[in-house]
Amino acid sequence: MNYRSNIRTLLCAMTPLLAAFSALAAPAPAAVPAAAPAAAPADATHTAAVAAVKLAKGNRCMKCHGTFKKKEGPSYPAIAARYKDDPNAEDKLILHITSGKTITRTSGLKEHHKAIMNKSQDELRNLAKWILAE
Ligand code: HEC
Repeated sequence: MNYRSNIRTLLCAMTPLLAAFSALAAPAPAAVPAAAPAAAPADATHTAAVAAVKLAKGNRCMKCHGTFKKKEGPSYPAIAARYKDDPNAEDKLILHITSGKTITRTSGLKEHHKAIMNKSQDELRNLAKWILAE
């Protein structure tokens, strides 16, 4: 054994110690909230709402409709209020957002309401439900 290999042996022997030591020295993991449920199952309502908003945003519905104020079109809560006692509200909304009926813009210009053509009934119904729940 020469001097070099002695040093190497010594270093090798120390490696686990060093590792243990740096583990000790490492800052304690920032107070993991003990109560946080490990990966809470995605809440179905939340997932549905996210999908509805995504569909609305993707079709630029938010350009004319808002959650709070009236824009070119009525706000979603105003629509929900209008239909609150209508048992066929979902179907009517689906028809509205797929048929492109003529609307009059604030400028007076007439145009077809935006129609979502390429989505399944489930996705459309989910959007209608979301609007009616606003
Ligand atoms: C260019 C502006 C504009 C865009 C974009 C638009 N809307 Fe509208 N929307 C309107 C206007 C204006 C009305 C009111 C029409 C009326 O009552 O005749 C309306 C009405 C509605 C209504 C109420 C229908 C009813 O029977 O009371 C719903 C629901 C609706 N829009 C959903 C949507 C959705 C979903 C989108 C996206 C796919 C969308 N809108 C995109 C302007 C717009």
